Amino acid sequence: MLSLKNVSRTFNDGSTGFKNINFKSEKGEIIGLLGTSGCGKSTLLRVVSGLDIEYTGSVKINDDLIKAVHEKVGIIFQEPRLMPWLNVVDNIGFGLNDKKDKQKEAQTFVDLVGLNGFGEHFPKDLSGGMAQRVSIARALITNPEVLLLDEPFSALDAFTKMQLQDLLLKIWHQYQATIVLVTHDIDEALYLCDRIFILRGQPGEVYKELQVPVSRPRSRGDEELAKMKATILDLLDLSQVENGESHDDIKTTTTK
Ligand SMILES: Nc1ncnc2c1ncn2[C@@H]1O[C@H](COP(=O)(O)OP(=O)(O)OP(=O)(O)O)[C@@H](O)[C@H]1O
Ligand SMILES: [Mg+2]
Repeated sequence: MLSLKNVSRTFNDGSTGFKNINFKSEKGEIIGLLGTSGCGKSTLLRVVSGLDIEYTGSVKINDDLIKAVHEKVGIIFQEPRLMPWLNVVDNIGFGLNDKKDKQKEAQTFVDLVGLNGFGEHFPKDLSGGMAQRVSIARALITNPEVLLLDEPFSALDAFTKMQLQDLLLKIWHQYQATIVLVTHDIDEALYLCDRIFILRGQPGEVYKELQVPVSRPRSRGDEELAKMKATILDLLDLSQVENGESHDDIKTTTTK
């Protein structure tokens, strides 16, 4: 179980990443962090991962206080961050160090993420979606209890993005890791998450917590999700431009 109590992160130059974050996740829960740019989402993930330990408050996985990178945490970034000199199998197996049967285990994960036949390929020969599949496999091979994703699909085209969202759900069903997903994509958060925290401000704080009351498998066109999207747009002050006041800069053209 992941728990955060009064967690804040201030930087030496006085700027604050985020403040007073509190939540507890259930095992296997998918939590979304949604908020505008600069509200501290990536900083929060770095803190939870143990990559940044200069925080105040407490971050715990089960009873372990996070004060260093934790073996039970996996992290996936927006860009795949693969090692260009290693092929797909070796990139995936890298975190297993000298474990016996490393190659065989990595091959299992190659298949799991749908890259059968590409194990010998090098990163430069992969599409963006394939490279991100490799980074998903690399994060999962160490069997993390907590999987952190920082805008993992935002650099991908819309169709690849949907395929990888479904892949993530398939794998999550199998492994039941607790997932914390940072995203700017409201549809993505609604399709994937059990609970969504809306962060606002700089420093970012939790402005609202929403439970997504739709069982899985979810339909992307679900009406309940559409209603929630409208609510979230409101919460982020993005739902509409008021009374045309700000439309001045929008030019429309009519074609006959
Ligand atoms: N190492 C650092 N030193 C000083 N300030 C930092 C550092 N890292 C982040 N910040 C500041 O913390 C705030 C939050 O940054 P962060 O990258 O976490 O935002 P974000 O919500 O992930 O934004 P985006 O959606 O654009 O990725 C920003 O104001 C940023 O300038
Ligand atoms: Mg970020």
